[in-house]
Amino acid sequence: MEVHAGPVSEIIARHAGHPEMALVALQEIQAQSGYIAVEAVNALTKALGVPEGELQSIITFYTELRTTPPAQHRICVCHGDSCAATGADRISETVEAHLGIAPNQTTPDCKYSYEHVYCLGNCALSPSMAIDEQVVGRCRPDTVVQQLERASESPAWHSRQDGSVYPPGDGSHA
Ligand code: FES
Repeated sequence: MEVHAGPVSEIIARHAGHPEMALVALQEIQAQSGYIAVEAVNALTKALGVPEGELQSIITFYTELRTTPPAQHRICVCHGDSCAATGADRISETVEAHLGIAPNQTTPDCKYSYEHVYCLGNCALSPSMAIDEQVVGRCRPDTVVQQLERASESPAWHSRQDGSVYPPGDGSHA
């Protein structure tokens, strides 16, 4: 059975026979699909001639690579030095209380994922957080909930990037 009929198959075909391009291929697949499906790993193993265990090691090592579908909205609270000194803990507490999840977790409805990051390049406006691709400065606990609710009304960030990657199962690897 042909597993890859869409753009993911093109990525795999482009790197076929080049095991040294494994990381690049994985990054491109994730950029296209939002995550790396098990079918993509299997196809990449054959095309590149790289053992599956080696691909899994790369995926495990690079924490930005993921094998499960992403949440609709990605919430990142900065805990870099500047933000830590200006109230990052209170921002995180508010986010965690509102979403009901801990760092590196996703809400059961897959609406939000939440993580700590260490500098968003917005130190002058600390404390900072990012909601999808938007960096928000001078965060306060009383405005964070508003920001989260506003995000929930906007389209999933993956669908805004190139219009083709979310939800999964859109033909990219069906
Ligand atoms: S430390 Fe938070 S934006 Fe730089």
